[in-house]
Amino acid sequence: MAEPLVIANGVSRRFGSGPAATDALREATCAIYPGDRIALTGPSGSGKSTFMHLIGGLDVPSGGTVTWPALGPRAALRPGRIVDVFQGPSLLPPLSVIENVRLPLVLQGLSDRAATKHAESALSAFTLVHLRDKLPEEISGGQAQRVAIARALAVRPALILADEPTGQLDSATAIEVLSILLGTLADLGAAIVISTHDPRVAERLDTVWSMRDGVLATLPVNRPHEPAGPATRCGTALLWTSRVVS
Ligand SMILES: Nc1ncnc2c1ncn2[C@@H]1O[C@H](COP(=O)(O)OP(=O)(O)OP(=O)(O)O)[C@@H](O)[C@H]1O
Ligand SMILES: [Mg+2]
Repeated sequence: MAEPLVIANGVSRRFGSGPAATDALREATCAIYPGDRIALTGPSGSGKSTFMHLIGGLDVPSGGTVTWPALGPRAALRPGRIVDVFQGPSLLPPLSVIENVRLPLVLQGLSDRAATKHAESALSAFTLVHLRDKLPEEISGGQAQRVAIARALAVRPALILADEPTGQLDSATAIEVLSILLGTLADLGAAIVISTHDPRVAERLDTVWSMRDGVLATLPVNRPHEPAGPATRCGTALLWTSRVVS
């Protein structure tokens, strides 16, 4: 069994203090393994982004712990091991499209030439090469979101945290982008958590976790490629393998 990428144990996040405090996340417990493909659903304000920021190490919990056994300490997560596709605009405005995609590659230590080659091939997977010299303000919101996804994949991460990545795309483009994203993930053996309101996105993944009022409900991750575990040997037909940390 591979080491988990992330373990969250009783993780809480409170914003503010006193009577005005918001408990955005309440004692969330879960583990994410290489190759897991998890949809995160829940109403607006239920805590999805808060959860993603915490498991990605962008924010620190008010209670509980987040660790990254297979990835190292929080300081080692970026650039490259965990990447984020944020809910809002995330391209750096003064940099062109190709420069945005190149930047994390250069920070990872690639030569200029190798970074450009990788960035071009990531843009090409999403049919964005023709936009390479545009500034973010010169492209549409949907195109910018596709560039952000290409930028995330270009560094060959172990875990992608994508916060409503297809929210700004029309439905045909959303499905196409998701297919490219999932295909690339399979090639990399990377894991993904996608927060989404779109049931067609959720149904393409291996499990659906849900949030409500800061409470995370996890389901086991369907990993049919795993060898049969004890549940199967006991004669149940389950292919599910529990990932919930007790
Ligand atoms: N920096 C912050 N300061 C204060 N409150 C915050 C902050 N960030 C989030 N919250 C509050 O925490 C709760 C959870 O917010 P969060 O952004 O995680 O929800 P969400 O499920 O991602 O919603 P959406 O689907 O609209 O993106 C909300 O009540 C929100 O107002
Ligand atoms: Mg959100």
